[in-house]
Amino acid sequence: MTRYLVLGSGRWATHLQRLLTLSRVDHLNWNRQQHADAELEVRAADCTHLWLAVSDQAIAPLTERLRSLDKTLLHSSGALEIEGTHSVHPPMSFRPSLYDDDFYSRLAFVTTSTLPRERLIPGLANPLSVIPPEKKAFYHAMCVLAGNGSVLLWQKFFREMQDLGLPPETARQYCERVSENLLTDPATALTGPLVRGDRMTLLKNLNSLDNDPYQDVLQALIQAYHQESQRQKRGSV
Ligand SMILES: NC(=O)c1ccc[n+]([C@@H]2O[C@H](COP(=O)([O-])OP(=O)(O)OC[C@H]3O[C@@H](n4cnc5c(N)ncnc54)[C@H](OP(=O)(O)O)[C@@H]3O)[C@@H](O)[C@H]2O)c1
Repeated sequence: MTRYLVLGSGRWATHLQRLLTLSRVDHLNWNRQQHADAELEVRAADCTHLWLAVSDQAIAPLTERLRSLDKTLLHSSGALEIEGTHSVHPPMSFRPSLYDDDFYSRLAFVTTSTLPRERLIPGLANPLSVIPPEKKAFYHAMCVLAGNGSVLLWQKFFREMQDLGLPPETARQYCERVSENLLTDPATALTGPLVRGDRMTLLKNLNSLDNDPYQDVLQALIQAYHQESQRQKRGSV
């Protein structure tokens, strides 16, 4: 009978255990804060699947340690491909506290494993996509660029608007509208001087960021936008 052992007690381990509970899948936990080291093998012996929901640096050593137990080993690192462990990555951002219950059944996974889903993640009905292992680094780079990149930009925006004395609600409204437009129609979501080809405004924007580390970021975004537009035009002829 399927039983998962979730290793770790961090963000992903916490959300994963909630998913398993809501999916009514039997599971145990082992984490080094609450359990003795030797308890790991004892708990693992009672399980079919060992999900290494631990920091990336700990995945290879734990794989080595658990490899001989003849269990299905899973990990969720977006960056690592390790022989002997199947990569099952959620393209998602996990905060420390849990999300609403209805979030968990919709959580999608991306794997590079060739195991059929009933052997890879038995008991879980979550959407599962398979990508070739050689595309994984690129796939994860896209998650980091879009997910982390946008959070850094919005954090900067909120800080600067606060320093300018704008009410928090004003900054929030802008963020909400941009996000909603992006989700409603990604193709028309971009507005402003970039799409208008307004070089004078862009130059003013860049100059206003003198001595700000985000000047280089804006410059790089403008260049990337132009290069990508050229590439798409070439591709469409
Ligand atoms: N957070 C996300 O949004 C997210 C999204 C997708 C994938 N992931 C992946 O999920 C995995 C876990 O990330 P996380 O965000 O949950 O990290 P986290 O919140 O920092 O938690 C890391 C966990 O790993 C444990 N750990 C670290 N080294 C260990 C070792 N040598 N032996 C045993 N346990 C060890 C930590 O234990 P201590 O507390 O004792 O240090 C902690 O429980 C990573 O592979 C990450 O790439 C995370």
